Amino acid sequence: MAQTYAAKYLMKAAVSAPRDLLNAAVATMRPIHPTVLIFHCTFVCDAQCEMCSNWTRGNRKEDMSLEDISRVLDSKLWKNIEVAFVSGGEPTTRNDLVEICELMLDKLPRLRKFGINTTGLTPKRGIPMLTKIAELCHERGVIFSTRVSIDGVGEMHNQVRKVKKGFDKASETIAAMRELQKRVPFNFGISTTIFTMNLDDADNILAWARGEDLDIVFNMVRFTEPMLGNADLEATCKPIGEEEERMRQFFMDRVRMDPLLDGQNYIYMHYADMISNGYHRQAPCPFQTQGIMLNPNGDLFFCENSAVVGNVLQKDAEAIYFEQASQDHRESIKTEQCPTCLSPCQMNVSAVKQVLPYVKFLYRASKEKRKAPRIAARVAAQGAQAAK
Ligand SMILES: C[S@@+](CC[C@H](N)C(=O)[O-])C[C@H]1O[C@@H](n2cnc3c(N)ncnc32)[C@H](O)[C@@H]1O
Ligand code: SF4
Ligand code: SF4
Repeated sequence: MAQTYAAKYLMKAAVSAPRDLLNAAVATMRPIHPTVLIFHCTFVCDAQCEMCSNWTRGNRKEDMSLEDISRVLDSKLWKNIEVAFVSGGEPTTRNDLVEICELMLDKLPRLRKFGINTTGLTPKRGIPMLTKIAELCHERGVIFSTRVSIDGVGEMHNQVRKVKKGFDKASETIAAMRELQKRVPFNFGISTTIFTMNLDDADNILAWARGEDLDIVFNMVRFTEPMLGNADLEATCKPIGEEEERMRQFFMDRVRMDPLLDGQNYIYMHYADMISNGYHRQAPCPFQTQGIMLNPNGDLFFCENSAVVGNVLQKDAEAIYFEQASQDHRESIKTEQCPTCLSPCQMNVSAVKQVLPYVKFLYRASKEKRKAPRIAARVAAQGAQAAK
């Protein structure tokens, strides 16, 4: 069933390619309605992660209510949203998460891909919610993807997330999602954020995921106030010097050893490039022209490195987005933030939308892949050394 689902996903991407190209061309000339949305539905969280500070700013009273969200979604701003993600904080801490997702599915007429990241740490609440959301997406023909965050195997995960038995709880959610996949088709896997604390565990996590036959994506740690509230964690969480080089090598090894067309390789090469070139971004980003981010209290941002351009509870979202001051701010993001921005946000969406950078990537990645046998020998030698 998973293979049929992947084929359906690729078909949908291919069908939308001409419109994606047209959108990208128009966006170079004038502002267009966004096609990609990240909605942080709450910052309330069921973990206290070392590399993210959202858990410190969770405030249920500040979260938009279901009624607020319904009203906000009536704006014309969202009419072209094709890809939407619900994140946080921990989305499943909201009692009305299923209703929020249902509203989004009903009110975003062009939606074709819907995603949620979850800790999976409260299985009794989360599993029924995710089940219902997967069913709703399936009924509407929207591709659903969800990932459980896993930052280490066993105790390492508990330490990163500061949750007792966190790995066991997340594993319960993982098992339930895999069981659900037998009945409802959706994309499922795990997501791992690599930073100072778990860098040495990265190969271990990868081996565990492979052993469990789990799709895994790795995030390189980054620091953003609007999205993660964690600008002050850079000093403790960012690998530097020899550690940073090991992290670069880990991402480059993925490019060399994982299948060429694995969507994540494009992002992994971007991480490795950023480290080796002193953080000069070369990769495209859909948020420059087609993205939008909404925080729990209604604050609207162009992306994770944007300032607040307005609050959707006070003014119509479309009016905020298109007003001159907002568009001027977007231009300033392009010159001041993008050149050093690490964000992978939906780069693989933009790979389809911006063909040339992707073709360049394929050329470089296939050259790197010729080094794979040497890398495999090195990793095996390291494994043997560690086992002694
Ligand atoms: C902010 S969390 C929100 C959803 C949910 N609470 C979770 O942890 O999965 C979304 C994703 O961001 C990742 N993340 C957390 N801190 C990060 C950081 N400093 N840099 C990059 N990714 C990070 C998490 O591991 C998770 O996969
Ligand atoms: S990464 Fe997710 S679980 Fe951890 S503090 Fe941030 S929002 Fe909460
Ligand atoms: S600052 Fe980063 S996330 Fe924002 S538009 Fe630029 S590259 Fe994209």
